[in-house]
Amino acid sequence: MDGKREQWGSRIGFILAAAGSAVGLGNIWKFPYLVGENGGAAFIVLYLICVILVGLPVVIAEILIGRTVQKNPVGSFRELSKGNPFWIAVGGLGVFTGFLILSYYNVIAGWSLGYVIESIKGSFHKLENPEAAGQLFESLSSKPQWTLMFHGLFMIMTVIIIYAGVTKGIERASKIMMPALLGLIIVLVIRGIMLKGAGDGVRYLLKADFSAITGKTFMLALGQAFFSLSLGMGALLTYGSYMSKKENIVYSAVNIVALDTFIAILAGFMIFPAVFAMGLEPAQGPSLIFNILPIVFNSIPGGYVFRIIFFILLSMAALTSTISLLEVITTFVVDEFHLKRKTVAIVLGGFVFLLGIPSAMSFCGWENFTIFGRTCFNFVDFISANIFLPLGGIFIALFVGWFWGIRKALPHLQQGAASFSGFLALLWSILIRFVAPILILLIFLSGLGII
Ligand code: PFF
Repeated sequence: MDGKREQWGSRIGFILAAAGSAVGLGNIWKFPYLVGENGGAAFIVLYLICVILVGLPVVIAEILIGRTVQKNPVGSFRELSKGNPFWIAVGGLGVFTGFLILSYYNVIAGWSLGYVIESIKGSFHKLENPEAAGQLFESLSSKPQWTLMFHGLFMIMTVIIIYAGVTKGIERASKIMMPALLGLIIVLVIRGIMLKGAGDGVRYLLKADFSAITGKTFMLALGQAFFSLSLGMGALLTYGSYMSKKENIVYSAVNIVALDTFIAILAGFMIFPAVFAMGLEPAQGPSLIFNILPIVFNSIPGGYVFRIIFFILLSMAALTSTISLLEVITTFVVDEFHLKRKTVAIVLGGFVFLLGIPSAMSFCGWENFTIFGRTCFNFVDFISANIFLPLGGIFIALFVGWFWGIRKALPHLQQGAASFSGFLALLWSILIRFVAPILILLIFLSGLGII
């Protein structure tokens, strides 16, 4: 091992790093299109309910496990469960899921970086409609050299930060990138809502049509809350393991959840007013960002610069998430096998790059190679986000609520948060013991198509 475990240099450093993990492609790429496809504000309301009832209590539980034991997910579960193989396997599942998510997430992150370069080159200038932008996207993503080069470059950026360590790497990068990201989003929101016709987009986001809500919408909102908050695979547990016992977990958790939610909603206000102002359709699905947005900027004064800003913002959001994913697996190997962080970061980065190749190739040549009817990319996304994350989430809630037990866990939570007692503590224990596991079980079953 590299000696004593590092700790965050400051409370704000931890909050920004954890919020950086949470804020990512999920907020800027996925949340707006889910809102677009599922009834606008009504979806946002459901999302908020899920975040408060399930997200926040599980965020607290994950950070608490990590902070109490100060180890990686496997080591933490091993210690708290006194070596129970089942709970050790739950920690192992988290690390494995981190590996899987990073492998395909990094491919989309690579596209964002590639789009920064294309924007600078002016590739989107002459495109007139979403079809033309779609064709450009297809021609880029279907070139293995293009996709793999940016997949590799993004992995190298991620490795460099993890190589530099917790405070000098993750904390420093998050302290620079998170405020920059927030500033850039605000610039783009203001630019968007000043456009003629933007009011329709704003109304779309504020007007709740609850008739659009079905059981499936609820499940989508819950799944998104989970992915967006980086829950269920030990990312927040790992970041919590570098937290001092003097810090207030509840306060930090509230800030992380609030920042993540605020940025997702801001992303909606950044995208829809501009989309409506250009007379384009909101319900474009996953292609919203790569097919619609590049041309939206064509009709905006100063669009050349704003487009570059947008894709830089998307890449930074992705980078603060990829570092948290690589950190989970790096800490695991460093703690468990007593190896050097720097070497481990490089070797794992190389492995993840290789593991991501089939996902990247799903867009360039391997479209017809399927596993259970899905391309490699969709398969890895499906099993990690729809199966492993919810499973991990249920187990974390059950572990803290029942196995470790509220009575033992609470005093650890109260270290640094002495006032967290009485009604608040009771509320958290009800949410973590009953509400969270049951609701997550519902997402899980729906993800499998069982209900
Ligand atoms: N929360 C990230 C996003 O919304 O893009 C994705 C993610 C990052 C999931 C880290 C899980 C994780 F551990």
